[in-house]
Amino acid sequence: MKRLLIWGTGGQARKILAQFPHATHEIKAFVDNNPARPEQFHGRPVLGPAAAAELTAGRDYDLLAIASAFHAEIRQQALDLGIPAERILPASALHFLNAAHLLTDAQLAELASVPWWYHRFEILPGVVTPGVCAYKPWLLSHPLVADLTGRRALDIGAWDGPYTLEMSRRGAQVTGFDIQPSAHSGFDAMRRVNSLAARHVCANVYDLNPEEHGSFDLVTFFGVYYHLKHPLLALANINAVLQPGGLALVEGAVLEGAPRVDASWAGRADLVERLRETPMAYYVKGEYEGEWSNWWVPNLTCLGHWLLSSGFELLESALVEGGARGYCVARKVESVAREHMVLPPAWRGAGTCAGEDASGGGGSSPAMIVEPV
Ligand SMILES: C[S@@+](CC[C@H](N)C(=O)[O-])C[C@H]1O[C@@H](n2cnc3c(N)ncnc32)[C@H](O)[C@@H]1O
Repeated sequence: MKRLLIWGTGGQARKILAQFPHATHEIKAFVDNNPARPEQFHGRPVLGPAAAAELTAGRDYDLLAIASAFHAEIRQQALDLGIPAERILPASALHFLNAAHLLTDAQLAELASVPWWYHRFEILPGVVTPGVCAYKPWLLSHPLVADLTGRRALDIGAWDGPYTLEMSRRGAQVTGFDIQPSAHSGFDAMRRVNSLAARHVCANVYDLNPEEHGSFDLVTFFGVYYHLKHPLLALANINAVLQPGGLALVEGAVLEGAPRVDASWAGRADLVERLRETPMAYYVKGEYEGEWSNWWVPNLTCLGHWLLSSGFELLESALVEGGARGYCVARKVESVAREHMVLPPAWRGAGTCAGEDASGGGGSSPAMIVEPV
């Protein structure tokens, strides 16, 4: 029986407790940096870091499991307190011990090395990652993406890569694309345990371009646009990397869900309903749904208009998750047109005002004919 200290008393600790490998591990105590920590958590004492450092690793406990998204900082703090590196592990490693019989030692070590999983998905048959966000199978349920043999797919906002994995399983050659480096998330572990050849690009969707990143038959853009201050720039870049006729699958928060998920919209369901057909987006200074990185929240009609004005036709547009989110399947039908006309160069000597020309004869001179481009 291994004796554990668990550093963290928040959501991650609760998650680990729900799937704790009781047969092989017991909890001696929790550790918490917060000076206002409770005395007990789940029937065990909660210690401050200094008190934890007074316990002797190997005598009072065997392992220190870190249950926090701030794994790197807490690990460093533990090392500074003199806790030996070989006794420190991410708490998510405990989760995989329950599935050890389904994994090789190398796979177990690989999965256990990821400090924090965002996605909850079946990474290997029977083995589910302990993330906070569940894989949503309906995002890839459109008949046009049932078989992706030989297709090139780009998964923007891939994070741990559940959609990269599923599209690879369907035969696509997938590139994951995210501002998160693949080694900081579960993406690298996901591709190694599955021996996937999927590429990963760590970059901003604002910098996505065909010259650098290639062209694709399919782009998935799930859960990203509302994290952007410039969602239309992202859609223009997605259009640019798609082949003519290529598909964009787009999912995210929509205003129809606001009365349920955002405190400032509570009680305004009637208003949202009345304006449903009016393309409308809400911009908030990083507070929507209590999340600082949420900016634009369109209604479904507006999300459709964003796509229509970005060179796509809509094949499907629907509210999902009880109306809280929107989902669109769009096909590229043209390249994105410029946003405004540009005047052609004026003739040398041509007039400068409407109705004036070089001969002074009035009327419409060719230099004055402005063509939208
Ligand atoms: C809410 S998660 C969605 C993850 C996944 N696509 C899903 O739907 O479950 C948002 C993802 O978008 C990524 N992201 C946010 N802003 C981005 C940007 N400007 N360029 C590329 N990726 C971005 C985040 O790092 C994160 O992986």
